[in-house]
This record gives sequence, structure tokens and C-alpha cells, in this order.
Amino acid sequence: MGYNVAIDGPAGAGKSTIAKLVAKEKGYIYVDTGAMYRGLAIHFLKKGINPEDTQAVADACEDADVSIGYEDGVQQVYLNGENITSGLRTEEVGNMASKTSAIPKVREKLLELQRSLAREKDVIMDGRDIGTNILPDADVKIYLTASVETRAMRRYNELKEKGEDCSLEEIARDIRERDERDMNRKTAPLKQADDAILIDSSNMTIPEVVARICSCCR
Ligand code: DC
Repeated sequence: MGYNVAIDGPAGAGKSTIAKLVAKEKGYIYVDTGAMYRGLAIHFLKKGINPEDTQAVADACEDADVSIGYEDGVQQVYLNGENITSGLRTEEVGNMASKTSAIPKVREKLLELQRSLAREKDVIMDGRDIGTNILPDADVKIYLTASVETRAMRRYNELKEKGEDCSLEEIARDIRERDERDMNRKTAPLKQADDAILIDSSNMTIPEVVARICSCCR
């Protein structure tokens, strides 16, 4: 069994930024499970599947093979053998992933892939149900959150920096909707595990959050 650190929390809390930095400092492999849901979402989008059609989504899982690899330490996602990493981070794919990740068949499909990575390697794995469901015996569990306003502002600044036109209100509304879906679904909803350490990063810098998490790890 590898040494396992689980980081869960809502969209935009900074989990991937923080987890990558902790991974670097501690020599763990960073596993981004959201990217796996996004990979399946691309499959559903390619097939023109309506995310509300649970049966169609479940059927489409049958001919999707999602796997993970690493290039220069950076996680790559393969869908039926094709590297689709560069297409993962659009709003369209994120929304499809948020909707379809509520469907049990979709979660089942990715569960073993996530557990097997944690068995083999020292990992820091981020997602929504890692500490509660995927790795209930993780060595360290973190629940990383921040206020909706802070998360929206961070995303707004990120998009502005890329030169994209966006509205702060729309981003905040999108974050609220995603929280609502992720926290209230029946299967593996986002919630803090009883034994997770809560970190609210609203008023913390990135190095402060990284240092706090590193201090909890061996
Ligand atoms: O972290 P992210 O935005 O890349 O995740 C995309 C969607 O995938 C998110 O809305 C919820 C879902 N997800 C999940 O249900 N369980 C996980 N462990 C990771 C992500």
C-alpha cells in the first residue's frame, strides 16, 4: 500500500494547485480524479448524449476506456487510447462531468482505477469523495474549501489573465450550481469525512495552505 493523502472540496477551492505543490515537495504522485470524470464527459459529448438520460450515459460507459499516464510528472488522460488531456478543462466538459458524475455507473467505472493507483504508489489524490469513499483509510485527509465569493473571484482573475471575457456574477452562479449538484447527489456526495482536517483557504495564501498540509504529512 502506498502512502495516501486525500484532498476533497468544492470546485474552485484550489485543490489541484495545492495538491501539485504538496506532491512536488513530498515526492508524491498527484492524481487528479476530476480529470477522469472529465475524460468520460468528453466521451459522452462526442456521442451527443443527454446527461439527463441516465440509461444512455450508463450504456455509453461500456465502450469507454479511461486510463492515466504521466509525462514529465504531469498526469495525462487517455480515452480509448487517445490522449485527450488538452481538451479537459473547458466549461462545457466541466458541466457535463458535474452532471454525469452523479450517475452510479459512471462512478463505478472509475473507482477501481483510482484505488489501484493509490495501492501502488505514494499519492496525493484530489476529488470529491476520496476521503469518504475511495480511500476511507487514507493516511491524511484534507477538506479544502473557500467561500463562494473567494472561489468566484479567483476563477474570474484566472480567466481575465487569459484574456477571456467573463462575468463575476455568472461565475459565482455556476459555482453555486456545481456545489449544489456535487453536495446533494445520492451517490458519493461531496462532504467532509469525519476524520478530515478542514482548511478554509479564503484568507490564506497558497504557500500557507501548502505548508499546513505538508505539516500533516509524514
Ligand atoms: O474537480 P473538477 O472540477 O475537475 O471535477 C469535475 C467534476 O467531476 C465535478 O463537478 C464533480 C466530479 N467529480 C466527482 O464527482 N468526484 C471526484 N472524485 C472528482 C470529480
